Amino acid sequence: MRDLVPDYVKRLPKRQASAPAVPNEIRLDRNEQPFPPSPRVVQALRDAAEQANRYPESFSGGLRRRISEYTGVAFDQIAVGNGSDELIEWLARAFLSNGDEIIVPKPSFFYYATTCSAVGGVTVYADRNPDFTLNLDAIFSKVTDRTKILYIANPNNPTGTPVPRQEIIAILERADFLVVVDECYHEFHGETVVDLLPKYPHLLILRSFSKAFGLAALRVGYAMGSVEHIDYLHRVAQSYSVNRMAHAAAISALDDVEWAKSKIAGICSERDRIATALQDLGLTAYPSRTNFVLVNARASGKTATEIAAALREQNIHVSNFAGYPGLDDYSFRLSVGLPEQNNATIAALEKLVVITSSQPAPTIGSGSQ
Ligand SMILES: Cc1ncc(COP(=O)(O)O)c(C=O)c1O
Repeated sequence: MRDLVPDYVKRLPKRQASAPAVPNEIRLDRNEQPFPPSPRVVQALRDAAEQANRYPESFSGGLRRRISEYTGVAFDQIAVGNGSDELIEWLARAFLSNGDEIIVPKPSFFYYATTCSAVGGVTVYADRNPDFTLNLDAIFSKVTDRTKILYIANPNNPTGTPVPRQEIIAILERADFLVVVDECYHEFHGETVVDLLPKYPHLLILRSFSKAFGLAALRVGYAMGSVEHIDYLHRVAQSYSVNRMAHAAAISALDDVEWAKSKIAGICSERDRIATALQDLGLTAYPSRTNFVLVNARASGKTATEIAAALREQNIHVSNFAGYPGLDDYSFRLSVGLPEQNNATIAALEKLVVITSSQPAPTIGSGSQ
């Protein structure tokens, strides 16, 4: 048998299926909306299920028209994918070939690097400032002739850090490659650079229905960019990528934006309550404009691996970022859950974490890894 697998695919890390769900588990490791979706969405899903024997609309025509009304962006400047994850895959397929580079300010969302590696591209990490804000000099020092895409998550995952609009403009003014601004957590943050699309054709914005709208199970995200870039994304896509139920649910979610708004305010105040409680325990909770909080437990002397394992014993799941590019072994992230879940998590951490020193949080945004 010939060797079928390119070296760059062999180098990708192995992936695993999630463990089966356990009753009453508290899942704070995926940045999900803790509440089930709006009743209108659930009804739309039931109605769409009646036509499950029919393929969905190809290239998401109806949903793109509805997103166009919601965002003010033209229909042919919008692509809809199976989660924004899939749009990140299309970006790699459409714009990267073997040896091309993407720049990612570290730490950031892992899937930019995975999708780049999967097509033989190279991820070049740029350090952030110690408080996780962007360092524009560090970013532009990484630009080469092979740079194709710069990924800016605003706000960033896993840090929760927002990017000031003026910085995005400064980046767009200097960049002669695609600048992807990932606004996955847009509805929590409230800011956008959608209005910059007409001026900067090399800007492409990603959004998701998985977070504020509570449709994570259905996998719907969208991209907004120049007509030309959106056309190329569609060329590398399958026609029926987004299913009929997902289309119906996302359209309904936009018809019922009030539902999302009513949840967002509570989630943001819970987020700030959790951050304060963890700071009171002596941990460092980084300021966040999302539905999650990045925590550094160095002051407790316990690593994120130890903390995540101890919480898991109590059926509480948080994300362990030990070994992650741009973070140290004391970093973990927790999403905002239902108030009683947040209380249980804070109580568990109270028992677990005994502060042994009052060292300030490390300056992990730069220099490390
Ligand atoms: C910054 C960022 N971008 C994209 C995604 C993918 O979202 P989706 O569920 O739309 O694929 C996530 C998911 O956590 C994320 O945090």
